[in-house]
Formats: sequence, C-alpha cells, structure tokens
Amino acid sequence: MTVTVRAPAKINLHLGVGAPRDDGFHPLVTVYQAVGLCDDLTVARSPGWTLGVSVPEWMDVDSVPVTGDNIVDRAAHLLAQHHGIAPQAAVSIAKSIPVAGGMAGGSADAAAALVALDRLWELGTPDDDLLQLAAELGSDVPFALVGGTALGTGRGEQVEPVPDPATWWWVVVPSAQGLSTPAVYRRFDELAPDAPAQPVGADAVLLALSTGDPGILARALHNDLEPAALDLRPDLADLLELGELSGALRGLVSGSGPTCLFLTEDADAAREVAARLSEEHDVVLVTNGPVAGAHVVTYA
Ligand code: C5P
Repeated sequence: MTVTVRAPAKINLHLGVGAPRDDGFHPLVTVYQAVGLCDDLTVARSPGWTLGVSVPEWMDVDSVPVTGDNIVDRAAHLLAQHHGIAPQAAVSIAKSIPVAGGMAGGSADAAAALVALDRLWELGTPDDDLLQLAAELGSDVPFALVGGTALGTGRGEQVEPVPDPATWWWVVVPSAQGLSTPAVYRRFDELAPDAPAQPVGADAVLLALSTGDPGILARALHNDLEPAALDLRPDLADLLELGELSGALRGLVSGSGPTCLFLTEDADAAREVAARLSEEHDVVLVTNGPVAGAHVVTYA
C-alpha cells in the first residue's frame, strides 16, 4: 500500500511580531494563506525506515535536510510514539516548496508525514491529536494541516480559519541561498529592542480579504520580519522594487525570507510580472491561494 499526501507552502499576509517570551519564542499575530506550491510526500510499507527526496531542476538537492535530525523523521517518531508502535515506512518527498525560504516547506513535509503515516499505519488519529503533535513539531506545522487562510496566534501554532472567498495571484521568487529563521528573529530583536509584548493586529488584512480587491489587500500586507530579512540580505530590496516597477501591486518578503512575493491584479498580470522578472532572475514561479491543507491525493 502507498499513500501520497500533498501539503502546501504558506505565505504570511500579515506577520505581527512581539518581544520574545520567556521561552525564547516570539508572540505572533499572523494571517497565513496556503498557496499552490506544494510538496508531495509518499509513504509505503517497509520493514525499516528510509527517507528520500527528489527536487525540481532549479532546486539544489543537497539543500534539503533529509539526514540527521530532520522534521519528517521527528514527525514519524512522534506519531509512532503517540500510539506506542515502531516507525516503519519508506518515505519519499517530491519537493516544490523552496528550502529555507520563509514558506514553511519543512513544516509542510511534517504535516504531510503525519497525515500519510496515520493512513499507512491505519491509526485513525483524531484531528485534535494531530494538531497537537503538529504544534510540537514546529510553529507553522498546524497551519500546514489546516490550510486555506487562517489567523495564527501564540507562537503561530494556534490557528483559526478565516473567511477568504477570493483567489489571489502571486509571483514567487525564491533565492539560491536560504536564510535561517532563528537568525532572522535574532536580527529582529536587535533592530526592534522595544518591540511591544502584544504584536500589531491583523484587522486591515482581514478586512481586505473580505473585499476581494487585490489593490486593497496590497496596501494592507504587513511583515514585521521584513526589515530584519532585508538587513541580512540587502539585495532583496532591489528585487522588491523591480517587481513593483514590473507591474506588481506590492512586493513583500515571505515570512522570515528570503523568498519574495508579489501580489498581482489577476492571473494574466501575474504571468506578465513573472515574465519581466525572469529576465533577471533564474527561478520565478506563479501561484495562487488559498488552497487546501495537507490532504491525500493518491491511496493505492
Ligand atoms: O517553531 P519553529 O521550530 O518553526 O521555530 C524555528 C525557530 O524560529 C525557533 O527556534 C525560534 O528561533 C524562531 N521562532 C520564534 N518565534 C516564533 C516562531 C519561531 O522566535 N513564533
């Protein structure tokens, strides 16, 4: 038997970050949107545990951490431990989500592993338990299970779906060199030593979503980590400007970066902006959101 689960990348339409808590994590008020860049994770019965990965030609296979303490291994062990069984499976990941790009690719793989292995091992884990295991694995993992568009609070792990009836078109420009999320948060602390305990709220984005108007959403997009990411990667400022000069309504760093996002008027505009950015950047992708969270696509 094999099970394939597809899990989406996330973007943050709003990312309000507060001063670090006692546990070192930062309180967030964020609006996640799942977009159509997805990783597919396939699991098959096996007497042991193996993990392999395949990547599109633009991605460096060595950049994907599949050995050592990787998040898919941790997901499998956590689920197996929860049920008191041995984690046995052959797992392969077909990646499309940029690695270390601020789009939660590792979190998507962890969410996909929970859903796929739950089926393979015929565990029937209740959704609430899966969400709890997901939160133990990482702040963004619960959202990868839920998908759609959701308000995230706590350290990002508490997610509540929000209405988002429109389809939004994005141009995505990954970077050859990733950024470390903890390093970006550390730079945030240096640049914003007086950050408030309570992060800035997401009302403007939530209201913009209900209008379905990309011009209004463009003005509402907000990312408190963007100054820190730009400080570590000043070249990204040129990319954001180029995208806006090329017809995007707004350029934004994705989460902790370095992937840059461009909101466009519609699908045609996205393809035009992508064509212009492709003249200077090797990898330029077009996608839309919201899309579903981790879900089974084949079961045989
Ligand atoms: O939860 P996750 O493992 O994805 O977090 C990775 C790192 O990002 C944390 O170790 C921490 O340095 C930083 N982080 C943070 N505050 C958050 C989420 C992540 O400081 N809310």
